Amino acid sequence: MEILETAAALQARTEMWRRDGSRIGFVPTMGALHDGHLELVRAAVAENDVVIVSVFVNPTQFNNAEDFNKYPRVLESDTELLRNTGCTALFAPTPEEMYPRPAVLQLDFGPLERVMEGAHRPGHFNGVGIVVSKLFHLARPHRAYFGQKDWQQVAIVRQLVADLGFDVELIAAPTVREADGLAMSSRNRRLSPEARQVAPRLHEALLLAAAHLPAGTAVAQAEAQKFLGGFPGIELEYLEIADAQTLQPDLTAGGDVVICLAAWLDGVRLIDNVLVHPA
Ligand code: PAJ
Repeated sequence: MEILETAAALQARTEMWRRDGSRIGFVPTMGALHDGHLELVRAAVAENDVVIVSVFVNPTQFNNAEDFNKYPRVLESDTELLRNTGCTALFAPTPEEMYPRPAVLQLDFGPLERVMEGAHRPGHFNGVGIVVSKLFHLARPHRAYFGQKDWQQVAIVRQLVADLGFDVELIAAPTVREADGLAMSSRNRRLSPEARQVAPRLHEALLLAAAHLPAGTAVAQAEAQKFLGGFPGIELEYLEIADAQTLQPDLTAGGDVVICLAAWLDGVRLIDNVLVHPA
């Protein structure tokens, strides 16, 4: 596996692979890799000739300095994990390499970002949109792999690709969970033992909401909120029920529904979601 640290080095490699006719798969990450990330890498390895994984804690998508500073950075163990996947190249740039000058562009994703993460983390999707665009320009992938764990991010990147005409196929892979249901996340490493113990209740709350959905979204939301209210270690930030495509609260008859939440556990912010296919 090659380790590339500069934009120029990555560009040179992708130009060569493109000339050879290789299919390039790309998995963007912020590192502290877990099995959710590695599932994306395995899918990319199975479906492409070469696979690039980026590890970059992108400063422009953090709206909270503490979250950025405390974000786990473990490049050495990430490198070792990637060596065993068949990944071709790891791209691990410095912030100065990715942002030789501050980006001033402001991306507005319209209704897609007025809800959930976009509403609660101002500027977050602007940062995601800018870094994903820059990474797509450098890696020039045929296919890019994202996780449904960040359902809204997938919708945002889909919009970005459509509006800017990136010639890339997006693959959205299902959420990988721990045995007790907790969605894998790099932030799980920061949970205290007490918070880790209560964290699986988030997924249970989502399943509870899904079970009550036939009674209407208000009932489903109230049941999940009541359930989570029984756990003092969990501070719910939002629980939203939306059309899985538009992310808006008005549901289309027969269309897929997504139930998303964000919650604080002992100073750590976690998100999760479940997709519901109405009968
Ligand atoms: P990060 O949180 O590191 O996630 C990288 C990719 O892994 C994302 O597409 C995310 O949805 C996926 N992922 C995370 N946890 C997962 C899980 N439990 N199951 C399946 N997939 C999972 O998302 C980002 O980084 C950044 O915003 C990025 C796209 C890299 C831009 O900076």
